[in-house]
Amino acid sequence: MAINIQWDNKFEVGHERIDFEHRIFLGLIRDLSLEAERNPQSPRVTRMLLEIHKYAEFHFLSEENIMLDVGYPHLVEHQRVHKRILNQLGDKIHQYQHQGIHDSAEDIVTFMFEWFALHTTSEDKRIAEFIRATTT
Ligand SMILES: [Fe+2]
Repeated sequence: MAINIQWDNKFEVGHERIDFEHRIFLGLIRDLSLEAERNPQSPRVTRMLLEIHKYAEFHFLSEENIMLDVGYPHLVEHQRVHKRILNQLGDKIHQYQHQGIHDSAEDIVTFMFEWFALHTTSEDKRIAEFIRATTT
């Protein structure tokens, strides 16, 4: 049984660009979830996994550039968190593609959604809070 992936107000960090990219990011996870449920053997599932990985890479660079621009004091540790999830996701996709001990695509969906929910509501919110506190 697939989880229901929906945008929730609690994911809103209060920074226009970050929230915009987060909505796209979550939309990609949701699209993958629907495809993996409907058509798990489709080569499209692999392509969507790669799309999410590339989008995550892009989005993390965007966020890091925003942090750089505002002199965010926790940039290095935030960058480390981004790097770790990209590696984990890359490994899972690799395992998925090469079958063997692979997680199913739905497991990757759950993994990414849980990470997204936790990361946006904690680490990413702190960036927006820092910007609000230093620019008003
Ligand atoms: Fe982040």
